[in-house]
Amino acid sequence: MSETLTIALSKGRIFKETMPLLAHAGIVPVDDPDTSRKLILDTNQDDVKLVIIRATDVPTYVQYGAADIGVAGKDVLLEHGGEGLYEPLDLEIAKCRLMTAGPVGMPEPQGRLRIATKFVNCARRYYAEQGKQVEVIKLYGSMELAPLVGLADRIIDVVDTGNTLKANGLEPLEHIADISSRLVVNKAAMKMKSARVKALIAQIEEAVKNK
Ligand code: ATP
Ligand code: PRP
Repeated sequence: MSETLTIALSKGRIFKETMPLLAHAGIVPVDDPDTSRKLILDTNQDDVKLVIIRATDVPTYVQYGAADIGVAGKDVLLEHGGEGLYEPLDLEIAKCRLMTAGPVGMPEPQGRLRIATKFVNCARRYYAEQGKQVEVIKLYGSMELAPLVGLADRIIDVVDTGNTLKANGLEPLEHIADISSRLVVNKAAMKMKSARVKALIAQIEEAVKNK
């Protein structure tokens, strides 16, 4: 029997947008993560399993080899740092932009800016490059609320249509990075399961090109 290949995915948009790419590689899950409570999903291939985890945990599972392969947003990868991972393929899905944002029309306050974000490493790096002194406040979601209640002057979050910002009286300010989801591979798996992993990357790459 061949060795098992474990692929880490998060529920929601990444799962939905990755499914057609995996299908092109002949991998189809048996269970639906939206209806199943299972965290390890079987697929039509006995030796391919999907593990369903939080988007921010995908790089960690792959880094430690708990999953051989994963799909993660570039925002999550920039925040994680990419240690122990190869990033061989841009899947061109879940596209958005990592941006700073603040209340519409509000000039930058004097002194130390307060930045609310779940991307604390990205925030520190970005403002250090700008030579600005900031206080970074870690949040786990609903960042848009922070400037409305006086918790922060600015937020750093992903923006797609801008509707979430607009609905909360905020506007996008500086562009930090273009974001899409990437295939990540554990460095040891790339060596130990080389033929298998490389064949899968090639099939997914073809699916991305044909989209
Ligand atoms: P977690 O559950 O760990 O907090 P999350 O809620 O950010 O993660 P998703 O909303 O599924 O998880 O987002 C997964 C990825 O999709 C993000 O890391 C980002 O790269 C991308 N993404 C997030 N929001 C959007 C959006 N509105 N449009 C397009 N892509 C997005
Ligand atoms: C994401 C992100 C923003 C929003 C941006 O949230 O956290 O709030 O999308 O998209 P927009 O510019 O098109 O409004 P998501 O919809 O994934 O919900 P979440 O907060 O549960 O992740």
